[in-house]
Amino acid sequence: MDLKSLGRVLIFPVQMIYLIVKASVCSLFPSRRKELRKELVLITGGGRGIGRHLALEFAKQGAKKVILWGRTEKCLKDTAEEIRLSGTECHYFLCDVANREEVYKQAKVLREKVGDVTILVNNAAVVHGKSLMDSDDDALLKSQHINTMGQFWTTKAFLPRMLELRHGRVVCINSILSQSPIPGAMDYCTSKASSLAFMESLTLGLLDCPGVGCTTVLPFHTNTEMFQGMKVRFPQLFPPLNPEMVAQRTVEAVRTDKAYVYLPWTMHALVILKSFMPQVALEEIHRFSGTYTCMNTFKGRT
Ligand SMILES: NC(=O)c1ccc[n+]([C@@H]2O[C@H](COP(=O)([O-])OP(=O)(O)OC[C@H]3O[C@@H](n4cnc5c(N)ncnc54)[C@H](OP(=O)(O)O)[C@@H]3O)[C@@H](O)[C@H]2O)c1
Repeated sequence: MDLKSLGRVLIFPVQMIYLIVKASVCSLFPSRRKELRKELVLITGGGRGIGRHLALEFAKQGAKKVILWGRTEKCLKDTAEEIRLSGTECHYFLCDVANREEVYKQAKVLREKVGDVTILVNNAAVVHGKSLMDSDDDALLKSQHINTMGQFWTTKAFLPRMLELRHGRVVCINSILSQSPIPGAMDYCTSKASSLAFMESLTLGLLDCPGVGCTTVLPFHTNTEMFQGMKVRFPQLFPPLNPEMVAQRTVEAVRTDKAYVYLPWTMHALVILKSFMPQVALEEIHRFSGTYTCMNTFKGRT
């Protein structure tokens, strides 16, 4: 090893300690928030659920334009009207994110009619919510296409221009289930884990791209129609999050350049426990909290 490399190896632990201490101290003070007034924000699945609240929150916090993609026109139209009433320019387009050709076509239409997307929020997702043996293959494929592949197509469509502009952010509304899967939602957990790996890889891949970054949000169960009927054993101890709060924390993370957000922050503990606890103890946690059987009562969207 030459002297220069040896120097770097010796400095590395000091550098690590410095970065950890710096990040911990900084987390105690409010971070500087970026303005959103030049941003064109695209939210997939922006018509309802968390996506709708994200759209309202980006508009409230000053985004220049908000664009909604989804499949259900009525929800998209209602949300777009609500945003326009608040004074922010808003457009919506019908787009199935699982359909690659449609994504590329609608991305072109969007660029020509509205402008360059500078914040892409990959929010659209579905949950099939049946056990592997009860699922039909098409339903399983559908959730992989929407929850995982959709993100590949949208990011491929908009990231190149962000890189040219040296300005942009790719945001993913993931789920804590990507790191702590439950039975009865195998399609969802698998596709969300894959989507998390996509974001982790993209976040590192953009290290040398000034002005362009990523934010991944991992919420716990949230009060929307997605997991209707799902029951945990102690709902008072683990109440579902409200979608307004998830939206607020997401926009805040975008404005402060945060890479990962666990909601609530106590979910960090779950990930840490998982990394060292014996499997028998983990199984008991799932039994005790009821997450082991919580999907038995799942109804989903009716
Ligand atoms: N609810 C929870 O407990 C929870 C917890 C953690 C993370 N999350 C994540 O939060 C995000 C939003 O979920 P949510 O709770 O708001 O669910 P939701 O109320 O069911 O909304 C899902 C959204 O995705 C859109 N969508 C579904 N398939 C689509 C497709 N093929 N193309 C375009 N849009 C599509 C839907 O719009 P259309 O029907 O108009 O297509 C809808 O706007 C998801 O990524 C979910 O995984 C949810």
